[in-house]
Order: sequence, then structure tokens, then C-alpha cells
Amino acid sequence: MSDVKIPAEGLTEAVKRFYETYPYPRIDPGRSVQSTILGTPWCAAHHALDNRISKRVRILVAGGGTGVALEALGVGFAAEGVTPDIVYVDLSQASAAEAKRRAERVGLSGVRFLIQSIESLAKLDLEPFDYIDFSGVLNHVAEPAPVLKVLSDLLSPGGGIGIMVYGRLGRTGIYPMQNALRLLNGAPGAGDPVDTMRSLLGNLPAENWITKNPHLGDGIDIPTIELADRYLNPNDRAFEIGEMEALLRAVGMKINGFVSPFLYDPLPLLPSEELKAQARAMSMIERAQLSEWLSGTLHIHQFFAVPAARPTIDPEAFLTREDTRLMPSAFGEAAFEALSRAAGRIMSITMPYGGLKLTRKARFTDDESRVLQLLKAGPSVGAVRDLLAGEGVDRARSDAAILGVYRVMSQLGAVHIWAAH
Ligand SMILES: C[S@@+](CC[C@H](N)C(=O)[O-])C[C@H]1O[C@@H](n2cnc3c(N)ncnc32)[C@H](O)[C@@H]1O
Repeated sequence: MSDVKIPAEGLTEAVKRFYETYPYPRIDPGRSVQSTILGTPWCAAHHALDNRISKRVRILVAGGGTGVALEALGVGFAAEGVTPDIVYVDLSQASAAEAKRRAERVGLSGVRFLIQSIESLAKLDLEPFDYIDFSGVLNHVAEPAPVLKVLSDLLSPGGGIGIMVYGRLGRTGIYPMQNALRLLNGAPGAGDPVDTMRSLLGNLPAENWITKNPHLGDGIDIPTIELADRYLNPNDRAFEIGEMEALLRAVGMKINGFVSPFLYDPLPLLPSEELKAQARAMSMIERAQLSEWLSGTLHIHQFFAVPAARPTIDPEAFLTREDTRLMPSAFGEAAFEALSRAAGRIMSITMPYGGLKLTRKARFTDDESRVLQLLKAGPSVGAVRDLLAGEGVDRARSDAAILGVYRVMSQLGAVHIWAAH
């Protein structure tokens, strides 16, 4: 029997109805959100804008939900002296109302709220955007290709899109459960789907993928809004990273970076030098796809896309500039502190990834540990050099330590470059 699906023409309406009932994400509107699933303003600036940051940034929050990215980007850019000029769009009135309350609470003024489909933005005469936040939305649109076309047409040549989509392999187990629920729910007299799903989850055999998949581990106790998001969405699709790259290529875009680059590096998963050499000879996207297939666990992809014609800029080139700042992301102050106390020892670094924590090992020298200690404040390269010079570390040594720390921590998505022009 094939999947139980809603006809394509009714999908956008069905998705709208779903998000009117279950606005996402459910986060206490009184709680501030400083970073989102796609990271922070400096993560966006680093990967999507190649650090071409000026005094204003035009942002589109596409499928903005309850407004967490709206708050994180708006407040974050403003705090760094960049005035955000934001348009928010979402199908759901209920989500937009919550996003508005969130924006008002943090004093974000001038946001333009549009309650309509992303597809319909093509008919408006909008000025191009520098940055588009597009998180968790492509999974639910009626057809991905036309939506990506609309967004790529709305982008300024120096701009970029931050994208989160579901990862197919890491969601193993979810889709059969969605089908089972639709089938049961379609029967006359079916009960509340949330209750039905909870009772199904409580009765799964140990061999079911949901039971076995640690990435889906919250089982029967999952909060209602998360349960609905995972199992009740009327239109839900997941992607492999190679498919995403092909969709983007078709609209003249390319992947420019990942929130957590280490997840897309297959080298640690390859057991011989021969296999590693093969992987090194591959394109970035082939390596990323290989890593996804070998790890088998990616349940979300978080990455940045830019116009394909734009030359690729090596962020390390900014590290020679005195005013370049090294911004800590997704990583608590305490963690930087702990790492900095472990010079010479192999340290475990734990990084957040879509509700999970992933651990990687690293070893830092004495000089690098000192740089790590300074990082939590988001220092400039010049400030790090000066502080280390005061401790007798010459320029060549401090630059080597900055580069060493940058290479490890940027792979983990824990440090980004902020180099306002
Ligand atoms: C999973 S939520 C993500 C919300 C938000 N981007 C975040 O990451 O917190 C998906 C959102 O996309 C919106 N959405 C889905 N399809 C859309 C479309 N075609 N046009 C506009 N919004 C859409 C939904 O209404 C919902 O608010």
C-alpha cells in the first residue's frame, strides 16, 4: 500500500490549518531567544553574507512561525550596530500573532508582517533581501522548487539564505508512523489524533525504528506541540543533502557553508588512507553526501545558500585583520572556560545539534587555550594579539594560536568571523 496523502492542490490549505492549531515552536513568549536553529546573526553573516556587513541589513523571515528567528536576528544584529529592516511572512495567523507579541516585547519596531504564502511573495514588489531565514519550512510547502525560485529571486547579489530542512536518514521511523496515523484517523469516529498517536507510541514493539532511533528518543512523553509537529503535519518531507544541492543548483544557488561543518566531513568515518584520499578528491557536496550516508544519523540539515556565481571566500583571509571579531556561537561561556583549562590534554567538546548533543575530541596548546579563554567575549583579532603580547607571546605565535583555535572551533560551528565593512 502506498503512502496515505492529501491531494497536492489542498496541501497549502491543510498546512495553514495545521499551523493555526499548532503554532510552532511553542516557546514561552516571555523567554528571550538569542540564537535559533540556524545559529546567530554572526553565523548568518559568516556563511551567507561572506561578512559583507554594512549599517543596515534587509531580512526576510520566510515561514517565520512564532518568531524566534525574528527575535534572534533582529535583536542580535541591532546589538552589533547593524539596523535590521525585517519582513516576516507566514501562512498562519496564529503564528504571526505570537511573533508580533514577541517582537513587541523585545522592542523590535518596523517589522512588516505578511500573512500569506511564500509562493505569493513573487507578486509583491519587494526590495531585495540580504538575508533570508528559511528554517523548517521547505519540509511543508506544496512544491519545493518554485518556493526556492521565489526566494532566490528575492535575494540581493551579495545575500544568502539560511536553510533548515529535515534529514531523511535521521528521521527513519517517522514516516511509517505518520501513514499509520492517517489511516487510523481516516476511519469514521476516529478519536483525537494526538491521543491516538500517544497511545500508539506507548505500545510500539522494541524493534520499531522510533523505539530504536535515539534521535527520536522522547517517546510517549513528547510535548503535544512537538508530537503534532513530528507526526500530524499534513505535508512533511525530508531530504538528503545531495538532493538539496540539486534543488538549489536548479535555481542558480549553491551551498556555502554548514552550521555544523564537522557533520559533513566523512574523513573520521573512513578507516584507511586510501579511502580518505578518495574522499579528499571529491567535491564538497560529494563529501557531505558521503558523510550523511555513512553516519546515517542526520535528522536535520542546517546550511547556507548563496548565488552560485558568487566567488567562494576563504573566511581565514579575515583573520589577518585587526578589527575582525571572533564570535562564539552555540556554545556556553562555561564550555569555553573549561576547554581553556585543558592545554595539552585531549578534550571532549559537546555541541548542540537539533535537540541532541554530539561530542568530538580536540587538543589545544597552551597559547590556544589562552585564546579560547578570551573567545567568550567575542574579541577582535587585535585585542587577542594585544592581550597575548602583554603576556610575552609574540605576534607569530599569537596568530598561529588564533588560526589553530579557529580551525577546530569553526568546524564545530562554535566560532564565526564578524568583519563589518
Ligand atoms: C516548523 S514551522 C517553522 C517556524 C520557524 N521558521 C522556526 O524555525 O521556528 C513552519 C512554518 O512555516 C509556515 N509555512 C509552511 N508553508 C508555508 C508557505 N507555503 N508559505 C508561508 N509559510 C509557510 C508554517 O505556517 C509554519 O509557521
